[in-house]
Amino acid sequence: MNNPIGVFDSGVGGLTVVSEIMRQLPGENLVYFGDTARVPYGSKSKKTVLKYSKQIVRFLKTKNVKAIVVACNTASALALDEIAEELDIPIIGVVKPGAKMAVETTKTGNVGVIGTESTVKSGIYNDYIRELDSDVTVVSKPCPLFVPLVEEGLLEDRVTDDIVGRYLRVMKEYKVDSLVLGCTHYPLISNAIERFMGKRVKLVNPAFETAKSLKELLTEQGMLNTSKQKPEYQYYVSDGVEKFISFADSVLPYHVTNTEIVDIESY
Ligand code: DGL
Repeated sequence: MNNPIGVFDSGVGGLTVVSEIMRQLPGENLVYFGDTARVPYGSKSKKTVLKYSKQIVRFLKTKNVKAIVVACNTASALALDEIAEELDIPIIGVVKPGAKMAVETTKTGNVGVIGTESTVKSGIYNDYIRELDSDVTVVSKPCPLFVPLVEEGLLEDRVTDDIVGRYLRVMKEYKVDSLVLGCTHYPLISNAIERFMGKRVKLVNPAFETAKSLKELLTEQGMLNTSKQKPEYQYYVSDGVEKFISFADSVLPYHVTNTEIVDIESY
């Protein structure tokens, strides 16, 4: 099936998920939508995130996508279930795969979850984790400054190390041994996080786990693209093409040129 896979996010961060999909499913065509005009989602209400996500899904459907990946943790937390109910194609988010890996990796039973304010407030990581293993203790913490630090390119910087220390002190206090990077941007500062937490703490990257789950899903449902053609990648944003491209260049293994603006409010 060579129809593309639709991937969407509140902005540029979802490209961390795209890059994992490209690595694990190199034969698939992709259509990416980043809602760069309305980012951030991480401080918005469920009602707003659900409305935005529904518009994006409607847009992606016009591209004849065969499946949708909600790359945004906040949208996965607040909107995925409602969207899935109305959709006739498979849709997966990043929360479930991340939660599953956290449960599989913890030995002490103390799991940490970091994400946006809305993701943490939703309690969804805790729910999934405790559904899988009710003996696990979950410590969660919103880390709102991580997103702008990443978008400013401060991946290896004293300022970032300092903020990491302030936010994650509680994770050390609770002796977590598995920490879910529950926001699209956080894997990009995994070096700084690992420096603070130490190598013994397993950092769970939901982007990686989601690409793995997507591969399993497409394989099971006989939906993999088996044509030998070079895959096509299309990018759409709601604003700021140049900024998008410059961020994409820092995340993806090749230079993105074809990015178009979409009037997402009209969907
Ligand atoms: N993409 C969002 C997430 O993963 C982070 C950026 C935002 O707040 O919109 O939760």
